[in-house]
Amino acid sequence: MKRFLIAGFALTMAGAFSAMAANEQVIIETDSLGMVLSVGDNGRLYQSYFGKKLMNPSDYKSLTGGREVYLTNGMEDYFEPALHVNHADGNASSLLKYQGHTVTHIPGGKETVVTLVDPAYGDEVKLKYKSYDKENIFTSSTEITNGSNKPIELEKFASSMLHFDAPEYYLTEYSGEWAAEVKPHTQPLYYGKKEVDTKLGARANMFVSPFFQLGLGAPAEENSGDVLVGTLGWTGNFRFCFEVDNRGKLRVISGINPYFSKRTLKKGETFTTPEFIYTLSSNGNGEASRNFHDWARRYRVKDGMGDRMTLLNNWEATYFDFDEEKLKKLIGDAKELGVDMFLLDDGWFANKYPRSSDNAGLGDWDETTNKLPNGIGALTAEAKKQGVKFGLWIEPEMVNPKSELYEKHKDWVITLPNRDEYYFRNQLVLDLANPKVQDYVFSIVDNLMTKYPDIAFFKWDCNSPITNIWSNYLDKNQQHLYVDYVKGLYNVLDRIAAKYPNLPMMLCSGGGGRTDYEGLRYFTEMWPSDNTDPVERLFIQWGYSQVFPTKVQCAHVTTWNKDASVKFRVNTAMMGKLGFDINMHDLTPDELAYCKRSIQDYNALRPVILDGDQYRLVSPHSGNHASTEFVSKNRDKAVLFAFDVYPRYDEILHNVVLKGLNPKATYEVEEINRADGSKGEVKSYSGDYLMKVGLPVFSTSKLSSRVYTLTAK
Ligand code: DGJ
Repeated sequence: MKRFLIAGFALTMAGAFSAMAANEQVIIETDSLGMVLSVGDNGRLYQSYFGKKLMNPSDYKSLTGGREVYLTNGMEDYFEPALHVNHADGNASSLLKYQGHTVTHIPGGKETVVTLVDPAYGDEVKLKYKSYDKENIFTSSTEITNGSNKPIELEKFASSMLHFDAPEYYLTEYSGEWAAEVKPHTQPLYYGKKEVDTKLGARANMFVSPFFQLGLGAPAEENSGDVLVGTLGWTGNFRFCFEVDNRGKLRVISGINPYFSKRTLKKGETFTTPEFIYTLSSNGNGEASRNFHDWARRYRVKDGMGDRMTLLNNWEATYFDFDEEKLKKLIGDAKELGVDMFLLDDGWFANKYPRSSDNAGLGDWDETTNKLPNGIGALTAEAKKQGVKFGLWIEPEMVNPKSELYEKHKDWVITLPNRDEYYFRNQLVLDLANPKVQDYVFSIVDNLMTKYPDIAFFKWDCNSPITNIWSNYLDKNQQHLYVDYVKGLYNVLDRIAAKYPNLPMMLCSGGGGRTDYEGLRYFTEMWPSDNTDPVERLFIQWGYSQVFPTKVQCAHVTTWNKDASVKFRVNTAMMGKLGFDINMHDLTPDELAYCKRSIQDYNALRPVILDGDQYRLVSPHSGNHASTEFVSKNRDKAVLFAFDVYPRYDEILHNVVLKGLNPKATYEVEEINRADGSKGEVKSYSGDYLMKVGLPVFSTSKLSSRVYTLTAK
């Protein structure tokens, strides 16, 4: 990797700054990366280096100067600031001087906290960096405290600002639509600003995901190139701002979207930004993804190192049309299929306005008595009898106007008081800035768990973004709502986590709306997309895998795209957290038998697929085939998936060259999970051969797939 060092430039501002600190350096390292922040003669702090770790720590001394680490509004800089504070006297400038820093140990690494202070106003900015050694992951967040006697207004308050100086920059963002998420688009960055942001309020994503890849010097490839990969841990509006200046230097500013979010801070009050999480790789996107996957499992995702449950979901099998008898049969189906859990989806609640479609009942969380006369308890009892776990769908942050909750508490709804209501999927968002609403949302889970302690899982949905923004609770502080909504949500989730620490939950938001690493602190998994067409899923899972491990990506076998065989659909879903959302009785006996065998195969391979290293070998974006490999951490076992999507007539096929194996080991390679249940021939190859020559695993049959295991002898 080249050194992304910002050339020093002299600034000789006078100021009340202790000479002791001048030339002091803050060095933050992981196993492979190093960041150097240097205190200038003027007491201000500069990013002098961010790149490969230097072998000799003494070499860092040669790195001085650079760009100011957290550039402020209203001073000498001509480009986008990280911080913009409006003071009560009308002064919109901030000047930050280094006061000191602390380093503490955290699991897997260190936390470095750098304190900066504005001498004129006393405002304090703490830059918090966490560095995870083995995974080479950094996180950055900021704590801003009003040190003056009067309130201040925060207009811009980034989590992170990073500076780069490369000859060229190539930004890849992952944008799309509902059911067409995470399509990569790469563009060069030239002079000026490019922003990637969302304004959806109750979720991060619908049109663009909260992560990016930035090729430094050249577009990042899968296995080569210098690349910064970053994502924001925030379940709301985010913004990444990339600005190339007149000298070709790039600043990357990441944080909450400041759009309609000016925050007033009272004297002494502190605002803490969410974490920007990032890594640098000099071996392309693949290595960066594996850094994220390891870090996420070890340090971020709820029960990241734990196992996951396979499931049968009833959503696409029944939609709203079910009763107790039908559900009991489905619980039996789950047992017969061999999955771990039955998940009851939307449609089980509300009585005055029963939830028989998506236009009524949301907000009224009592079982619909004519559907479930014996309540959820009869279903958890049935699940227990059958020996499967029971999971339940909820959408606790939302309300249908046709509901008792709305009739009783219209004041709890986010909607403009003097304009017509606007409904997204016939519903409105509850005002989680209001502590009473937080109590209510917490009570939905708490009441269900108290009444039915055998509920083993929740699917937490959230279908409407915030529109027509107005909170009755916040009154004059309407600009606080976007941020306070998300903080209110986290308060609720903290309370749930404290009371039910071992309760697994899926984060769902009408497709992949909530796919962010702060949400995943509270959730064991997420729903990447409502699109379960297996061909589309090859692309969607590929997209999310850039920063999220397989373990958190729920992948369900459904009836979408019946042109694809059940095997093709199952194999795609096996590359995620496997589930079924299908009426088993629509399957032929052979298909059903195949599904049952697949669940057994998946269970045997689960540790490799969910916890191994993922290698994206052949991209679905690159042609008519796709291939992904998972390798166990000790390299003894690997699973290889190969898909032929729409091959051309007489297409020339190429071997798939594997990765991550032990070159010295001999692997027995066997095709498993065949549609007819037959056994494949076992052949032996060295790891060296497999990683140099590869295997002929593609075919010219449309929509066909194969799964191979590799076992070291
Ligand atoms: C949207 C989700 O993405 C679906 O899986 C399903 O749970 C529906 N909501 C239920 O309304």
